[in-house]
Amino acid sequence: MPERIFVAAAWPYANGPLHLGHVAGCYLPADIFARYHRLKGNQVLMVSGSDSHGTPITVRAEQEGVNPQEILDRYHTQFLDTWEKLGITFDLFTTTHTQNHQEVVHEVFKSLKDKGYIYTDTSLLAYCAHCDRFLPDRYVEGVCPHCGNDKARGDQCDNCGRTLDPQDLVSPRCTLCGNSPVFRESEHFFLKLSAFEKPLLEWVNKQTHWRPNVLNFTRRFLEDGLKDRSITRDLAWGVPVPVDGYEDKRIYVWFEAVIGYLSAAVEWSNKDGATGKWEDFWKDPDTKSYYFIGKDNIPFHAIIWPAMLMAYGGLNLPYNVPANEFLSLENRKFSTSQNWAVWVPDFLSRYDPDPLRYLLSANMPESGDADFSWSEFVRRNNDELVATYGNLVNRVLTFTYKNFDGKIPEPGPLSEADQSQLDSAREALETVSQNLYDCHFKAAVNAAFSLAQQTNRYLDSAAPWKSIKTDRQAAATSLWVSIAAINCLKVALYPFLPFSSQKLHEFLGFDGEIEQEQWDFDHLIAGVAPGKTLRSPSPLYTKLDPLIVEEEIQRLGVGAA
Ligand code: MF3
Ligand code: ZN
Repeated sequence: MPERIFVAAAWPYANGPLHLGHVAGCYLPADIFARYHRLKGNQVLMVSGSDSHGTPITVRAEQEGVNPQEILDRYHTQFLDTWEKLGITFDLFTTTHTQNHQEVVHEVFKSLKDKGYIYTDTSLLAYCAHCDRFLPDRYVEGVCPHCGNDKARGDQCDNCGRTLDPQDLVSPRCTLCGNSPVFRESEHFFLKLSAFEKPLLEWVNKQTHWRPNVLNFTRRFLEDGLKDRSITRDLAWGVPVPVDGYEDKRIYVWFEAVIGYLSAAVEWSNKDGATGKWEDFWKDPDTKSYYFIGKDNIPFHAIIWPAMLMAYGGLNLPYNVPANEFLSLENRKFSTSQNWAVWVPDFLSRYDPDPLRYLLSANMPESGDADFSWSEFVRRNNDELVATYGNLVNRVLTFTYKNFDGKIPEPGPLSEADQSQLDSAREALETVSQNLYDCHFKAAVNAAFSLAQQTNRYLDSAAPWKSIKTDRQAAATSLWVSIAAINCLKVALYPFLPFSSQKLHEFLGFDGEIEQEQWDFDHLIAGVAPGKTLRSPSPLYTKLDPLIVEEEIQRLGVGAA
């Protein structure tokens, strides 16, 4: 029975290009997961979009002296280009600035308000007398009341991960001028989070399949107690409040952005004219929803969004929230202001996507923080992709192509070594599959890669380039076994290396998309039928000059603000 899988990835703020930390944090794992399930024959819907509102966009617009809309359009277009080049296969990547999104947000807002889960109250808002303006949450910094971090922002403390309101900060200061703001009263809407403390705790305690770091963080957060939170702001850019008298206010960006997961499914569903398809993904309790996010987003996806969904009723709660930890760069935190970052568009202007996908998979910040270094990138590319996997494929296919008339050879009776090589391939497919199913990406790519290493060893000892001179049948058999293993590798590595797997699929004589393949050993073996015509192979990967390491490191931090 095919499964139905909803793959959600955090909505990036459309205020600047993406860096490798974003890719490793959520877009790559989401894509690997979606590709895996599609190849397994499951029904997948993968969505996200540009987080279009909120301070990050308006700050950028102010800096450049342009409309927020211009910033949104520029980076949204760039994101779409990045997904295409990096092979991140969203079924829909939209924005939170659409009519559809606004309608869905209003529907949720009104429903929660009717049920009493949204109410009005006055709240204290930071006002800077020096700058003569109300300050958005992120414009206020101060000391975190929980952990003492003195660089906590008005919306969240990056040190302990707790969500905050600006007035929670000790010694708050305006980030524009450094003066301390005053707090002025203003009427706002509040979300009754407190009502969900118990139901959430009960629900979370049942999620024993979650990653331990996510589960523990969420539990601790709930045990600290949930306070109601204001969900409107005194702003002009954002989703309007669907209530008369609130024309000068907008819905708080986090409240509406998470609703994007739902509105995007609706938009996708409406696109084909087949309205209602979204309901399969949101209302059928057998559908599993996975939210791929960075760890700083856990409170919003494991607590606030589930609370909103409980309040609304009738829609699926997250099945899993496989949040990743952080990626650092050459052992330093990514920093946009210090330009300590590798920007994805820039990276892709010089290098292929698959080697990056491979490195970030093998070194994913899955259960702990991880580091990206250029030397590791070159090493994994040259030693692993080129020398191990690429070389295996190239040796086998070139030799077969030359000596067996461009066709898959006919194997003779299988020796114990041949059989055991095929068994390794069967087991590897199983192990990779199970690990991907469980969102264990590092273990999955390692298991796939072990099969490449194993196949290399098999080939070295079978040495068809020697046996061909004395025993052509033995050479044919070992080549066929190797090709069979390579056909399995093509599938096992496809979620990580989609571009090269497609190429390999074609070298092996197949037409069409590799996604039409099946994750099934017997099927893959039947696919390498003796006599099948191969296509002329060429190397899958190219060696990188170790000199690029210094060159790339020199680029870091240049032009910092
Ligand atoms: N834009 C947010 C960030 O980059 C993530 C928003 S995820 C959403 O941290 F679901 F709220 F949209
Ligand atoms: Zn100020």
